[in-house]
Amino acid sequence: MEILIINGPNLNLLGRREKEIYGEKSFEEYLPLLQARFTRHNICYFQSNSEGAIIDCLQAEGFSVDGIVLNAGAYTHTSIAIADAIRAISAPVIEVHLSNIHAREEYRRVSMIASACRGQIAGFGLDSYRLAIEALTLKR
Ligand code: DQA
Repeated sequence: MEILIINGPNLNLLGRREKEIYGEKSFEEYLPLLQARFTRHNICYFQSNSEGAIIDCLQAEGFSVDGIVLNAGAYTHTSIAIADAIRAISAPVIEVHLSNIHAREEYRRVSMIASACRGQIAGFGLDSYRLAIEALTLKR
């Protein structure tokens, strides 16, 4: 399967930002480990701090890949435009978060994109991405 991981704003700073919440590892360190674990699948990666670039990526790839793992960062809580893009494309999208957004500040408990996604995985650190890929590649 072709799987695309999209990371939104500030996730390029994983390993450096708020380590007590998001951990010590950068996504660039983690990605090869993930790819090595799912050798039967092609896992590619895109990161942007810009809402428009994330929507462009969803539109460009969302009709050809088999599944998308999306951590929209803070846009999760604000972006109707990303939710609309998820609804517009054919690939299933799994929403992921490193932290348990439901156990944090009130404003993080709302996800504007959750209802457009196949499901949500939150609170397992970088392992949230692995769990999302497990869900996407599960044989039903
Ligand atoms: C996050 C949670 C968001 O609330 C926050 O804005 C992030 C990271 C997470 O992975 O836990 O940037 O999406």
